[in-house]
Amino acid sequence: MTEDATEKLVELAKRRGFFFPTAGSYGGVAGFYTFGPEGASVKSNVEEAWRRRFTTQEGHAEIDAPTVMPEPVFEASGHLETFDDMLVECAECGASHRADHVVEDDTDIEEAESIPIPEVEEIIREHDLRCPTCGTPLADRPVEEFNLMFETTIGPGTGRPGYLRPETAQGIFVEFPRLSEYARNQLPFGVTQIGRAYRNEISPRKSIIRVREFTQAELELFYDPEEDDPDLSGVRDRTVRLYPVAEQEREDGTPYETTVGEAVDEGTIASPWIAYYLGIAAEWYESLGVDVDRFRYRQHLAGERAHYASDCWDAETELGGDWVELAGFATRGNYDLSKHDEHSEDRYTVFKQYDEPRTVERATVDPDMSYLGPEYGGRAGAIADALEDLAERDRSAFEGDSVTVEVDGETHEIPVEHTGFAVEEVTETGEHVVPHVVEPSFGVGRLVYTLLEHAYREDVVDGEERTYLELEPAVAPTFAGVFPLTDEAGLPDLAREVAADLRAAGLSVTYDDSGNIGRRYRRQDEVGTPFCVTVDHDSLEDGAATVRDRDTTEQVRVPIEDLPGALAALRDGEATFDELAADPQAFG
Ligand code: GAP
Repeated sequence: MTEDATEKLVELAKRRGFFFPTAGSYGGVAGFYTFGPEGASVKSNVEEAWRRRFTTQEGHAEIDAPTVMPEPVFEASGHLETFDDMLVECAECGASHRADHVVEDDTDIEEAESIPIPEVEEIIREHDLRCPTCGTPLADRPVEEFNLMFETTIGPGTGRPGYLRPETAQGIFVEFPRLSEYARNQLPFGVTQIGRAYRNEISPRKSIIRVREFTQAELELFYDPEEDDPDLSGVRDRTVRLYPVAEQEREDGTPYETTVGEAVDEGTIASPWIAYYLGIAAEWYESLGVDVDRFRYRQHLAGERAHYASDCWDAETELGGDWVELAGFATRGNYDLSKHDEHSEDRYTVFKQYDEPRTVERATVDPDMSYLGPEYGGRAGAIADALEDLAERDRSAFEGDSVTVEVDGETHEIPVEHTGFAVEEVTETGEHVVPHVVEPSFGVGRLVYTLLEHAYREDVVDGEERTYLELEPAVAPTFAGVFPLTDEAGLPDLAREVAADLRAAGLSVTYDDSGNIGRRYRRQDEVGTPFCVTVDHDSLEDGAATVRDRDTTEQVRVPIEDLPGALAALRDGEATFDELAADPQAFG
C-alpha cells in the first residue's frame, strides 16, 4: 500500500468512525485515539477472536487486573529502572524526539534501538542529523534515557506513588501465588489478559500504531523447562517467514520461508514453546485477514531485547512501506517470578514432586544467640538470618574458623563455632522451583489498523469508482445491511422485520433506508459489511429478498424465511456465496 493510500485509509477511518484523535474539540492530545462505533466493533471482534484462540482453545484462564499498581511492583519488575527510550530534545524549538527513530528515518541504519547511547550520539553527529520539526542540527544535543511509565499518586495528600501499567503482564505475575493455586500448582499452565497498557511515548506517531494508551492481549505460559514441552504436531508443517538474527547480521541476509518444525529442528527457534505460539499465531493472523505476503517473524537483535527477555521474536507486518511490530513472543525465563519472589512477602514458586524421594545433604545453622545477643545487640536476629541464608547458598563459607556475613551494608566476622553449622542428611519428596515463562504479547490496536489497511480496495463498479474494505466476516463491524429498495408502502416494515429476524439469529445487522440504493451499498462497502439484503416490490409478492456480495457485487434472490440460516452459514464459513447462488434454499 502506498503512502497515499495509507492517508486515504486514515481519512476513511476518521470519516466513517473507525478511529479519530481524542478530544479534537479541545485541540486533541498526541498519542490518544478514540475508537468510534465501527472501530470499536472491529476491536471487540478481534479481542473475541483472540480470546477464543488463545484462552478458550488453549484451555487457559483469563484474568482482569487493575491498570494502576503501586511502585514496589515496578521496582521489582525492573520497569522503574530500565523501561526507557532514547530522548533527544531540540535546542531551538524544544521538540522531543526518539533518538533511535531520528537515526532510522534519516540514515540506512535499521533497528537503532539496539545501539548504545554514545554510538547513537556519534551517528547523529557524523550524519549531521537534524530536528524533524524545525531542521536545526541535533549534533551537540545529549541523548538521554526517558522512562516511559506514567506516574500517579494513590490516595489523597502525598499518597503512595503508583504507575499505570506499561504492560498487562505484571498484573498476572504479581498474582502468581494465587493463580498457581487455582491451577492446582500443576505446570504448565497459562493465564491471559486483555486490557489497557500505558506508555508515555516520546513521539507518538502513525495514528493508532504508536499511542500512549493502547490495548494488549497477553498470554503468560508458566512451565518447567526441565519437564514441559508443547505438542508441536499441529504446527510442525506450518510455513512461516523468519528473519533470524543471523540473517539480519549478514550483508545480503533476507527473511526466508521455512516450517515451524524445521526451524525447531535446526535450532533457529530455540524455544519449542515460542515455536508453538509462532505457528498458531501465523494461522490466526491469516484467518483474520492479515496478508501473509506482508507478514514475517523477526528475531530481536541482542541490544534490542527488553530487560526481562533472553530471546524474542516479533510478528511484523508491512504497513505503508514500513515493517511494524504487531506482537512480541518473548522468552522471559524465571526473571519476573524470581524478582517478585525476592521483593515481595510471597513465594513465587511451585512445589515439584520427585518421582522417588531423594536423600540429600543439607547445610543448616543453629546460631548461638547467647553469643550473638551480647555481641551484636539489635542486629543479632538479622545476623542469624544471614547465616542461615549463607549456609543454604554456600556451605564452603563455613570451612574456616570464621564466616563473613553482610547485614545492612556492614560486614561481620562470626566464629564458626558459634554458628551451629552442620551438614545433615534429609529425605526430600520434592523441591520448590521458580517456573519459567514464555509470553506471546499482542497489540490489539495495531492489528485493527493492519486489518483495515490490508483490506483496503479501490475498484470501478458500473462506471463509478468504489472504495471497499474486504474484511473477513469474523472481524467486520457489521455482518449485513438490510434495506427497503424504496419507501413504497409495506417495504420499510418488511425490511425492519427481516432485520429483526436476522438479529434474533445472532447476526449483527444495520438497517438503512436513507438515500438511493447505490449510495447505501457504497456506505456498507466502505465499512466492510460483507452482505446486504434488499427487499423490493417483488418481495411483497414472492417472499424473497436480494442478497448482495460485497466483493463481487453479485446478487442472488433468497426466500426471506431462509435468510437467517443462509446468512449464518455464510458467516460461519459453512457456505460460500457461489454455493448460495447455486441453491438459495439449501441453507435455510
Ligand atoms: N509484555 C510484553 C510487552 O509489552 P511489547 O513488545 O512492548 O511487549 C507488545 O508490547 C505489543 O503491544 C506490541 O507488539 C505492540 O503491538 C503493542 N504496543 C506496544 N507499544 C505500543 C504503543 N505505544 N502503541 C500501540 N501499541 C503498542
